[in-house]
Amino acid sequence: MAKSRWSFLLYFFAILVNFQLGNVIATFAGNPLVQQQLDRVLELPGQNFNVSFAQYSGYVTVNEESGRALFYWFIEAVEDPDSKPLVLWLNGGPGCSSIAFGEAEEIGAFHIKPDGKTLYLNPYSWNQVANILFVDSPVGVGFSYSNTSFDVLTNGDKRTAKDSLEFLLNWFERFPQYKGRDFYITGESYAGHYVPQLSQAIVRYNWVKKEKVINLKGYMVGNALTDDYHDHLGVFQFLWSAGMISDQTFKLLNLLCDFQSFIHASNSCDKILDIADEELGNIDQYSIFTPPCSANISQSNQLLKRRHKVGRISQKYDPCTEAHSTVYFNLPEVQQALHVDPNHAPSHWKTCSDVVSDSWKDSPRTMLDVYHELIHAGLRIWVFSGDTDSVLPVTSTRYSIDALKLPTVGPWRAWYDDGQVGGWTQEYAGLTFVTVRGAGHEVPLHRPKLALTLIKAFLSGTSMPSLKLVSDS
Ligand SMILES: *[C@@H]1O[C@H](CO)[C@@H](O)[C@H](O)[C@H]1NC(C)=O
Ligand SMILES: *[C@@H]1O[C@H](CO)[C@@H](O)[C@H](O)[C@H]1NC(C)=O
Ligand SMILES: *[C@@H]1O[C@H](CO)[C@@H](O)[C@H](O)[C@H]1NC(C)=O
Repeated sequence: MAKSRWSFLLYFFAILVNFQLGNVIATFAGNPLVQQQLDRVLELPGQNFNVSFAQYSGYVTVNEESGRALFYWFIEAVEDPDSKPLVLWLNGGPGCSSIAFGEAEEIGAFHIKPDGKTLYLNPYSWNQVANILFVDSPVGVGFSYSNTSFDVLTNGDKRTAKDSLEFLLNWFERFPQYKGRDFYITGESYAGHYVPQLSQAIVRYNWVKKEKVINLKGYMVGNALTDDYHDHLGVFQFLWSAGMISDQTFKLLNLLCDFQSFIHASNSCDKILDIADEELGNIDQYSIFTPPCSANISQSNQLLKRRHKVGRISQKYDPCTEAHSTVYFNLPEVQQALHVDPNHAPSHWKTCSDVVSDSWKDSPRTMLDVYHELIHAGLRIWVFSGDTDSVLPVTSTRYSIDALKLPTVGPWRAWYDDGQVGGWTQEYAGLTFVTVRGAGHEVPLHRPKLALTLIKAFLSGTSMPSLKLVSDS
């Protein structure tokens, strides 16, 4: 109680500083608690409903020399945030915004209607069960920036992990009420690199400091880039089995692309990938059974980059959600409400940055060694897969997990949600695998209810529900 009254006072103090003593602000903004209150978002444009939970957004400096700052949006749990874990969500690309995808069309509370102006509450938002943090990472993505413009051209896995760790350390200073809170990292696609790499950076940092500076309990990734070799084999097999490419192309892909890097492929592999693309036709590769968005949104050949599609619960399926975000987050009043600094706002906000992805530097070919290290460190590790994605399909994930050679502790079985098969699961020593039936690359977009069931099971550390449990309840 005393604590909340204190932050209440701080809040008014911050407002006072903000409105009446503009030039004093810099002095007080140095105080993390004051900055926390300055980051508070009271209402968003297009929000014609009230919410009971608090939200914050702003920048956290991750490198003072170069002037790199990462942009975050933090949404507290609907009920009892003090007792709920903290969950970080990261999208991939590389180059895609966690706010564009994670917040605005997957697990976030605020989703955007087709007019690009009006918000609606996502009934399956993960803030039903956790406090959720979205970060645009690395610099050059979304609203994250660097004062050294060259930084945007030199992003890679290593610096992304380092900056993300720095982000978290500084973020916990601004939100000291979350220090020591059970912390989980989640994400999809190219975040199949970011999530284990950041987890590894935290585990090693804690080890050096000889204390749990960040109380990381585990991580969960979906349709995740894990191991270039096995992931490639799975992609080719999926495309062929689903009847999307010719026998000839299947053979050539296996011949020319099997040992290629996912983001830096050779010319000969690129050529055959182009042929495969041609054969696929105008299909949403991220969700092969749903229609693509027919509006003219940027079509990119980056395999891992989200193009866009999407599903809305109990409403007609809308494959164009990415286009709605592009309208909404470019509105000056939205940027102002989210505390975007006009001096550092991108001239045109984009869901994914081609500049960042095209200039990506280091990208190790496998995460399997990191998995082994983190399994030994005792983290809870879950890997899920939407089984109608052809970009990082369920076959890829199965080959990559198989390559970890972990003993099985819970055999392959169906899991259930409301008496229906939600997908399949297998539990290994140190890792749980879950498929989500009928979901594409962005599982929470296509199957929001199943995704909420998944995060509940993950956070509570229980197995996915079986039919028996469901009928008993
Ligand atoms: C939100 O809350 C305010 C203050 O309680 C109230 O005046 C307003 O009508 C509410 N808006 C909606 C959409 O419920
Ligand atoms: C970037 O430069 C501006 C202007 O000098 C400064 O106000 C801002 O704090 C810098 N950003 C970072 C992250 O250092
Ligand atoms: C989409 O782009 C094509 C080719 O550039 C153009 O002919 C068409 O009018 C555009 N459609 C819309 C809806 O903007």
